[in-house]
Amino acid sequence: MRRPLIAGNWKMNLNRADAVALSSDLVNADKSSEVDVLICPSHIYLDAVSSTLGDSGISLGAQDVYFEAGGAFTGEISTGMLSDVGCQFVILGHSERRHVMGETDSLINKKVKAVLEAGLTPVLCVGETLEDREAGNTEAVVKTQFEGSLADLSPEQVQKTVIAYEPVWAIGTGKTASPEQAQEVHADLRKLLNDRYNSETSEQVRILYGGSVKPDNASNLMSQPDIDGALVGGASLKADGFTAIINAANQNVA
Ligand code: PGA
Repeated sequence: MRRPLIAGNWKMNLNRADAVALSSDLVNADKSSEVDVLICPSHIYLDAVSSTLGDSGISLGAQDVYFEAGGAFTGEISTGMLSDVGCQFVILGHSERRHVMGETDSLINKKVKAVLEAGLTPVLCVGETLEDREAGNTEAVVKTQFEGSLADLSPEQVQKTVIAYEPVWAIGTGKTASPEQAQEVHADLRKLLNDRYNSETSEQVRILYGGSVKPDNASNLMSQPDIDGALVGGASLKADGFTAIINAANQNVA
């Protein structure tokens, strides 16, 4: 049985006071203990949010990292720095990194390896554009991203990753994939995990859905057999909405 994970990706939003207030509200919220909760603030507020989270059980994640351990890489942040401020997770290959910053599968693969080597958990994002979907290429695009981003990893390493399926056309647009559309891709990913690694890996890895997840659609999405949680952008910026999504995930924990 995979434990649901609800992750909030705050992106480039909030200031220090708002980030601390939101994390404090989440610590104090009445939420299910059957669901793992993760929040990913901007790098610059990780330290402040980490202090607020304390031993609340809410995990802290970063939105990106560089793969080198240190040195002359102006503007970048290392896995060691993230561990130092209490991060346990790192989102990698988010569609905004792929499409706005031009990140490739081979760069993302280096980052996934660095994150695993540092003992952190990667949340690897994959997903097709509207153009890909309309051309019937969803399965092929997702497979290429999956294989490229996870290249050269052992089954044991892949078992330590979280995958997030985020159709690009559903991110920040208010258009959510239907539960059936999402389930179809999640099942493809689960099969890839089985075929390329083994059944243990496919049974263990959590596959989150992301793209306009809201309190009113979360429950239907998470009732699908291969959807193990959500990566939430806009709706994670308000404590009550994010808590409602956490509690919706709980309904599916038998
Ligand atoms: P959204 O973002 O929930 O605002 O669509 C999801 C994401 O990009 O992780």
